[in-house]
Amino acid sequence: MKLLISLLSALVLSQSVLAEPQAKPAQPGLKQAYASHFLIGTALSQGQIEGQDQAALAAREVVQQHFNALTAENVMKWEELQPAEGQFNFGPADALLRLAKQNNASLIGHTLMWHQQTPAWVFTGPDGKPASKALVLQRLTSHINQVMGRYKGQVKGWDVLNEALNEDGTLRDSPWRQILGDDYIATVYQLAHAADPAAELYYNDYNMNNPEKRQGAIRIVQQLQKAGIPISGIGMQGHYGLDYPDLQQVEDSIVAFAATGVQVMITELDITVLPRVDDKAIGADISLNQQLQQQFNPYSQGLPAEVAKLQQERFSGLFRIFLRHSDKISRVTLWGVNDQQSWRNDWPMRGRTDYALLFDRQNQPKAVVNALLQLAAEATR
Ligand code: XIL
Repeated sequence: MKLLISLLSALVLSQSVLAEPQAKPAQPGLKQAYASHFLIGTALSQGQIEGQDQAALAAREVVQQHFNALTAENVMKWEELQPAEGQFNFGPADALLRLAKQNNASLIGHTLMWHQQTPAWVFTGPDGKPASKALVLQRLTSHINQVMGRYKGQVKGWDVLNEALNEDGTLRDSPWRQILGDDYIATVYQLAHAADPAAELYYNDYNMNNPEKRQGAIRIVQQLQKAGIPISGIGMQGHYGLDYPDLQQVEDSIVAFAATGVQVMITELDITVLPRVDDKAIGADISLNQQLQQQFNPYSQGLPAEVAKLQQERFSGLFRIFLRHSDKISRVTLWGVNDQQSWRNDWPMRGRTDYALLFDRQNQPKAVVNALLQLAAEATR
């Protein structure tokens, strides 16, 4: 009888508790947990920026709770901002700036100079042949002045130059370098500094753990420093997998980059759980575009718990390193909000089902989020 009464009263109690309007449990966001260490960023698709549908709105709630630095996944690239000469399309980038302000988040500019997602007209002369150095220089100057001018004082920092290095640390033979010559790097940083003297200026690339590429990045920074041209930081993109890269190499790069006197950022972090298609698929060469082969797409019906666990351990291993070097690291940005949006579903092979980020296809936090919150709490104590 006693038991029955206590059971009944427990029931009544729980119902009355349920009847009370409940505030959502105040789970701290990643941005709060990491506030004393570094910014926690994410990259937004155009749909998310424009709040196109329910999924986009749900993603924006995640952004509000967890992220305090925003990068445009695409809408601030050259082909989006100036698809045809003199025709600027600032709408989506303006919307991202508004979103950043609403969320009290830093806006990161990505990217001013890249050999990808730059329209062919930039490198083409009026006669259809490769444009002259003078013409390309004039177009570069105009693009930087228009774009950086518009957002002057509102962008924390720009990925001025993206992916200028080969894996062996030599300079990539991009159209920029071919047309402008080797001093194109000094030129673009000078232009950027003149357009917005207060903005931080970064060099950004993938596979920056690779010791040869690491040396190449250090050379770029030191040459700029020697010439008295401002450079504020190095971005390590961080498109990783379950079995690469060697975490020791990641840590060594962080230490070596910081030793040049600039800040280090992880700018595009994601961890694919899918089998590697080939060795070129280490890194982030966006020109890779293989057709779907089902043997490389094992988790289209869901992710086995043990694989999710491996990914969580990998993220945790990385964040332990980031926390250990938080005096050198100013920001860690994930390349997307949720698994649905991630470019890794389509790179290097189209149409796979990947699980590369921290929030699932319904924008729910994966277990890894709690693990990262805990790591921050332990490091903060
Ligand atoms: C990717 C985007 O995520 C995709 O949506 C787009 O189709 C291709 O570019 N390195 C970079 C990013 O610097 O801009 C790339 O983003 C991924 C590799």
